[in-house]
Amino acid sequence: MLVTLKEILPEARRKKRAVGAFNVANYEAALGVIKAAEREKLPAIIQIFQRLFLSEKGSDLAGTLLRMANRCTQPIVVHLDHGGSLEIVCASLAAGCSSAMFDGSMLAFEKNVELTKRAADYSHMLGASCEGEIGHVAMGDENAITSVEEAVGFYSSTGVDALAVSIGTVHGFYKSKPKIDVARCAEIAAALPDVPLVLHGGTGTPPEDLRSVIENGVSKINIATEFMDTFLKSTRRELDALDGKFLPIDKFMDPVIDDCAAHAARLMRFFAGK
Ligand code: 13P
Repeated sequence: MLVTLKEILPEARRKKRAVGAFNVANYEAALGVIKAAEREKLPAIIQIFQRLFLSEKGSDLAGTLLRMANRCTQPIVVHLDHGGSLEIVCASLAAGCSSAMFDGSMLAFEKNVELTKRAADYSHMLGASCEGEIGHVAMGDENAITSVEEAVGFYSSTGVDALAVSIGTVHGFYKSKPKIDVARCAEIAAALPDVPLVLHGGTGTPPEDLRSVIENGVSKINIATEFMDTFLKSTRRELDALDGKFLPIDKFMDPVIDDCAAHAARLMRFFAGK
């Protein structure tokens, strides 16, 4: 069933669990997540990259995901990832997403607060949920670690349902072992005891660090790069195995869907402490 972050993350935070949030750009990867949720009997978040909403791809994909979420027996959130403008947030909600992230983490604090609050108010008016980010999780080295003061100030001024914080992860594969600031995560969680924290840049983050941050307030973990990598490697393997023979495309994709489901299920189990 289609739900918002509000229906799954506060409970996850109370129980010291996290829900996996997987970025998808096509039906097959999304079906992998849905199959994993059914198999594990766990909720899941399916995220759409904001750039897809710059063309018809975003709303086309959202329509498909809504149908899949509604037929799933487990709670599924269809969420906009890293919305870079209020227009994109509106477009994603108009396309039926049950949740949207506004990412103003590169803006000055006041501007980030102002725009995130507008995104949160608009999402709530439509019955959707909203995620904001304070501090900045980068692609490379120029991370801005979130301070406790800005986390508290940002949360109380915006009313977001989930708060993405920067505690040492980066987006994409790591070039060296990351240093995750679990102590900072714990301090933010103690100052905001009921607020679900979000970890971006889940790919390749050592399991022991993931476990520690889940114990300390993180209840949504974003996984994009490694999940897409599974999709691509699996597709290449199947293509190589074809060796020039013909297979109907839906049958060709079945093992890829299975690999995506296995990947998502493994992480969902781990995040849920199973
Ligand atoms: P990774 O690509 O590092 O998994 O990051 C995903 C993410 O944070 C999406 O918002």
